Amino acid sequence: MVMEEKEEERNSNIRIVVADAVHEMYVDEILQTIREAARKRGTGIAERTHEYLATKMKEGKAIMALDGDRFAGFSYIETWGNKHYVTTSGLIVHPDYQGMGVARRIKDYTFTLARLRWPHAKIFSLTSGDAVMKMNTDLGYVPVSFNQLTDDEAFWRGCRGCINNDILELKQRKFCVCTGMLWDPDKHHGEPTSLEVIKDVMKTLVLRGIE
Ligand SMILES: CC(C)(COP(=O)(O)OP(=O)(O)OC[C@H]1O[C@@H](n2cnc3c(N)ncnc32)[C@H](O)[C@@H]1OP(=O)(O)O)[C@@H](O)C(=O)NCCC(=O)NCCS
Repeated sequence: MVMEEKEEERNSNIRIVVADAVHEMYVDEILQTIREAARKRGTGIAERTHEYLATKMKEGKAIMALDGDRFAGFSYIETWGNKHYVTTSGLIVHPDYQGMGVARRIKDYTFTLARLRWPHAKIFSLTSGDAVMKMNTDLGYVPVSFNQLTDDEAFWRGCRGCINNDILELKQRKFCVCTGMLWDPDKHHGEPTSLEVIKDVMKTLVLRGIE
C-alpha cells in the first residue's frame, strides 16, 4: 500500500507535454533507451534517426514525460496515406519510471493529439508488446491484418530497419511478428476522451498555432 502511494506520488510529479524544439536535447537518450529495450526483449524495432525524432518534436507530433528535467518517457504520432491514417509509435518509458502508469498517460496524450488533429483518420499501431496491446484494447483498438492498414510506401519503409523485415516481405506485408491494431473513428462516434488531456493538448496547439 505504502509502495503504491509512493509510485502514485512519483507519477504525479511527472509532467506530460507536447514536445517542441527545446526537447531535441533528449533525442539521443530516447533513441538509446529504445535500442536498449529492444536488445533486452530480443525484438525488432523500426530504427529512427536523430533528425526524424527532432522533426516530430518541432512539428508538435511528439509527447514527452519529464520528471523535472529528466527524461521519463516518449512517443510520437505521424500521418500516412494523405492523412487517412495516423500512427502512434516509438512508445518508450525509461526503466526508472516503468510500472507507474507513465505509458498509459503518454498513450492518452498521443491518442488525444491524433484525434484532435486528424478527427477523420484511422489510428493504428504495430506492436509486439503486451502492455501496448492492453492499452490499445482499452482504448477500443482491434487487431487487424495488415491489409487494413495504410498502403503508404513511406510507412512500410520504416520497417526496413527492423530485424524482422524479411518476414514482412515474405508475407507480402499481410502479417509479421507485430500485431496490427486499428481504431476506426466511424465506429466510435461521440466517444469522449479525458477532458483534462483535451484541454491541455488544445492549449498547446493553440499557443503554437498548430492546426
Ligand atoms: C511497455 C512500456 C512502454 C510500458 O510502460 P509503463 O509506464 O511501465 O506502463 P504503465 O505502467 O503505464 O502500464 C500500462 C498498462 O500496461 C500494463 N503492463 C505494463 N507492462 C506490462 C507487461 N510487461 N506485460 C503486460 N502488461 C503490462 C500495465 O499493467 C498497465 O495496465 P493497467 O493500467 O490496466 O494495469 C515500458 O515497459 C517500456 O518502455 N518498455 C520497453 C519498450 C517497449 O516495449 N515499447 C513498446 C513497443 S511495442
